[in-house]
Amino acid sequence: MKICCIGAGYVGGPTMAMIALKCPDITVTVVDMNAARIAAWNSGQLPIYEPGLDDVVKQARGKNLFFSTDVAGEIKQADIIFVAVNTPTKTYGVGKGRAADLTFIESVARTIAEHAESDKIIVEKSTIPVKTADTIKTILASNTKGLKFSVLSNPEFLAEGTAVRDLLNPDRVLIGGERTPEGDQAVATLAGVYARWVPRANIITTNLWSSELSKLVANAFLAQRISSINSISALCEATGADVDEVAHAIGKDSRIGPKFLKSSVGFGGSCFQKDILNLAYLCESFGLPEVAAYWTSVVSINDWQKHRFVAHIGRELFNTVADKKIAVLGFAFKKDTNDTRESAAINVCRDLLAERALVSVYDPKVPAEEIRRDVLGTGSTGSPQGAADNPRLTVAKDAYEACAGAHAIAIVTEWDEFKTLDYAKIFAGMPKPACLFDGRNIVDLAALRKIGFKASGIGKPNAHRREGDTA
Ligand code: NAD
Ligand code: UGA
Repeated sequence: MKICCIGAGYVGGPTMAMIALKCPDITVTVVDMNAARIAAWNSGQLPIYEPGLDDVVKQARGKNLFFSTDVAGEIKQADIIFVAVNTPTKTYGVGKGRAADLTFIESVARTIAEHAESDKIIVEKSTIPVKTADTIKTILASNTKGLKFSVLSNPEFLAEGTAVRDLLNPDRVLIGGERTPEGDQAVATLAGVYARWVPRANIITTNLWSSELSKLVANAFLAQRISSINSISALCEATGADVDEVAHAIGKDSRIGPKFLKSSVGFGGSCFQKDILNLAYLCESFGLPEVAAYWTSVVSINDWQKHRFVAHIGRELFNTVADKKIAVLGFAFKKDTNDTRESAAINVCRDLLAERALVSVYDPKVPAEEIRRDVLGTGSTGSPQGAADNPRLTVAKDAYEACAGAHAIAIVTEWDEFKTLDYAKIFAGMPKPACLFDGRNIVDLAALRKIGFKASGIGKPNAHRREGDTA
């Protein structure tokens, strides 16, 4: 059996590497039109940072795992074609800022129709609006070669930073197919691939539309939990309750559960916001504005939370951050990834720069040019000269350099290394009062206050109003 995956990104690369590792008899080729990305997959420096991934790729690459730019050639040879291309939010026209941009999906469907020379199973791996399989089927059916294509939905649930673990031991694999004999056959073939390492009981099969919709709903529910706890974090700050204690107390209820209740500066990542906006847009398209409004509020709270964090910094710094150095620790949207898409750090840096702060960013995995490009937008060249676009933004080589001489530290990504910094040494090199804002609730605020910091977290009792506080 030969598998081809179109799209060598955060999903295509790791998922195919795992299939190749677990199915040595299947040849798996990941193709992409981005030659630089493919070259990186073939090199010692993979294009994405993901714990454990190097090892998986090294074990299979060159044996039954290949990365190539020959999209047409690999389509011809494959029995199963996964489509793992990006499906970003539309930035133009009808549905701008909300609907999914399906340009890449449609273009892939046309490329498959053009180059296929035998019957194939097409697997939607990308996250797409419900009914997209109809579009793909229609385009494929218009081929004039009399070929048959079965279209399946097999959404991916991996989270970045834990992709290898999630792929090795998924909570479930979801496969949606047409309820016809050919559809059932295609579902069985794909299920047979996963069954090499995933227990059959964890392989769920549904109709196409349930599968497509379940992916959007899963992300919406996950993000909803974060917005719910973040909304409560504001109430905690106002009342003296501690959001981590509240999360622990409610999470002990087995009906609620403990996961995804970590209050933060706001969720980021390429998918939560995009998929909720897409879900809301779908609801509106199907005449359900109330449902759309309900889900849109999850994104609104998240936006509010990001701004609230910077507003708090401003208030604590005597209502002005202008010309004050603020160290931003962490830029990736979560720890253990180099992905910065929709990272809260982007909003934090932009809000601070808008107030004319001097922003010094440090992240252990994100290159300086990426940080400049993300914060300064398309106006920046991304080259070192790009920094000239706004000299107030600098990128430090480590946390100590970022914090030296800073009036305040803002922890924006929960990298483990930020928990064990020598904060006494950092404090000594900061003008006083020295402030620390923990946007991830990962450091010991009491210990920092003992050092002398004016330290605050998200949803934490406001220390400065507490008796015995040193700040
Ligand atoms: P990505 O941007 O990292 O990768 C997509 C790749 O597809 C790019 O390298 C791009 O060059 C390539 N591509 C686009 N059009 C192409 C074409 N016509 N021919 C060949 N290559 C083409 O995206 P990603 O993060 O891997 O996400 C892919 C999909 O998976 C999205 O729909 C996303 O919502 C979904 N998803 C992502 C994650 C995640 O953790 N990132 C998890 C689950 C689902
Ligand atoms: C998320 C889902 O968890 C995956 O199941 C899904 O496949 C993926 O989106 C997708 O469709 O792309 P991911 O965005 O990679 O995965 O990472 P998460 O762990 O979900 O974190 C998302 C954001 O929420 C991060 O910014 C994280 O820091 C934040 N978060 C997460 C919190 O603020 N609090 C939490 O309790 C959990």
